[in-house]
Amino acid sequence: MCGITGYIGEKTATDILVDGLKRLEYRGYDSCGVAGINPEKGLYLKRVSGRVDALDALIAKDPLKKGTVGIGHTRWATHGVPSEDNAHPHTDCKNEVVLVHNGIIENYLEIKEQLLRTGHKFKSETDTEAVVHLIEEKIKGLNVSGAAARSDVLEPMFFEAVRRAIAELKGSFAMAVLWARCPGMLLAARQHSPLVIGLGGGENFIASDVSAFLKYTKKAVFLNDGEMAAVKKDSVLYFNFQGKKVEHSPVTIQWDSTMAEKGGYKHFMLKEIHEQPESVENTLRGRLLPLKGDILQREINLPSELIRNIKGVQIIACGTAYHAGLVGRYVFENFGLPTSVDFASEFSDRAKIVNKDILIIAVSQSGETADTLYAVREAKASGAKVLAITNTLGSTLTREADYVLYTHCGPEIGVASTKAFIGQLAAMYVLAIHFAVIRKNIFDADAREYANELLKIPRLIEAALEGSDAVLKIAEHFAKSEHFLFIARHINFPIALEGALKIKEISYVHAEGYAAGEMKHGPIAIIYKGMPVLAVATTSKMLSLVANNIEEAKARGAEVTAIVDEDSRKLIKASHYITVPRTAEILSPLLTVIPLQLFAYFIALAKKCDIDKPRNLAKSVTVR
Ligand code: AGP
Repeated sequence: MCGITGYIGEKTATDILVDGLKRLEYRGYDSCGVAGINPEKGLYLKRVSGRVDALDALIAKDPLKKGTVGIGHTRWATHGVPSEDNAHPHTDCKNEVVLVHNGIIENYLEIKEQLLRTGHKFKSETDTEAVVHLIEEKIKGLNVSGAAARSDVLEPMFFEAVRRAIAELKGSFAMAVLWARCPGMLLAARQHSPLVIGLGGGENFIASDVSAFLKYTKKAVFLNDGEMAAVKKDSVLYFNFQGKKVEHSPVTIQWDSTMAEKGGYKHFMLKEIHEQPESVENTLRGRLLPLKGDILQREINLPSELIRNIKGVQIIACGTAYHAGLVGRYVFENFGLPTSVDFASEFSDRAKIVNKDILIIAVSQSGETADTLYAVREAKASGAKVLAITNTLGSTLTREADYVLYTHCGPEIGVASTKAFIGQLAAMYVLAIHFAVIRKNIFDADAREYANELLKIPRLIEAALEGSDAVLKIAEHFAKSEHFLFIARHINFPIALEGALKIKEISYVHAEGYAAGEMKHGPIAIIYKGMPVLAVATTSKMLSLVANNIEEAKARGAEVTAIVDEDSRKLIKASHYITVPRTAEILSPLLTVIPLQLFAYFIALAKKCDIDKPRNLAKSVTVR
């Protein structure tokens, strides 16, 4: 997730762009840049590997004089480590076309290879740069270079060149494009990444979200997928990707800038809970079908031979990432691959038993967790290969691991991890199915069915999120409770642990997750009359046993809330129900965690806790 901005009007463009980027920094902050057109000197470009303040200082040394059109970008790296070369905006070979992009171009490698063959010179490792050179190629193809320098000739041709380039792209993009020969027009396009146009008086804006321009105008048009906009200082025209005009009526934004950064949500955590369909979609994008097992080889250079030869997997992680690892164990072992999971901080003594026959999977959102890094170094010292699952390009973990599979969730601002967790789960499912195909532990037809069910999950998460009001009511009912117990079996047992951790983290109340089958071996003694017990009871081969465990808890006075699907609901007797859509049991953690995240959020909200920055916690624990 990155932040893009664009401006065209009467003011100095860089002033507006930098102001907007500062408000978009929550979307990504590993590098940033601006580009504009100086009427005398042509293209103006400033980029830094760092925060927007550093960019501002760089611009001050060499300001864009008289430039009233420009684009800007603040980056959350997905392809190419954070560096000035990889920072946007990116330019074509002639430094005339310049572009900023938010999203993932799935087919950038084949586009780049084709352009390299025709002589284009690339300066970065990003997928984005392939787009700007493709536009350059389309401009050449339209013979625009020979056209008279009249805007009424060049502008339609520039539009057509960008439109043709977009037609070849696969993946997600929100982009803004400038051409030095067309200073009177900015082009924007949207496909699966947000893009909004701000409509001012004698000036217009482009941004990833309204927070970038709200201080200048509250009038906005949200582009739809498959649409482009030709933005001039006193007009905006909208088109579909076929070049046909479309109409839009502006809306008036009711938020202030601070609310806008949170997308209108009260906290980043709630915003990030609601971003989870997109987190799963982006993490699965381009990684499932066709299931030939070579996707991992191609994307992360993970040799299929290594996967065929390993005798097992050892997952190491901390906190919520550890819970993702626990789910991963059920998934890998479902396909016959023996898997162990350890807290990274407890792994030391076990490091000596790993060797080249064991693949280490290190899970870490930040890629900076000291415990995890230390455990990775110990595992490598024992000869094991390390595959990292992380959300942060350029993090220390990515430099120490042998292979890296990125989750594509964008920066997670809330200290309590939600969308990164579900991205980690999605990554586990991707690895497990490819490992199973490579090791011939699954029939092709079953693998395709699994992949197709997995691809439905983003929409099912959206449906689970629609149950938010029901969760709120139950949370408010229990808001004053001093203890919470979460129980579940099998692949949802880690979700019980995660639900308990979420409450502890953000509302500072005692909560415990337990294997439902284990309760009768002692812990059931803690249940008192009226104790809130949340039980994951979705359809599974263990459902009748979970139903028994719920009865055992009720018999000791517990007030049980059951997380059910429309089928299991009939078999469970509880005081409260939260329903999630039914999916295959093996995929159910992707849905059952949603109401537990919301439950923890609403409990903390009722207790007026500092939800995004809970006491005593840090987003990344860089000490052991
Ligand atoms: C999760 O809500 C917590 N913030 C914490 O448990 C976190 O998951 C843990 O510190 C690991 O962080 P990492 O994923 O960045 O390594």
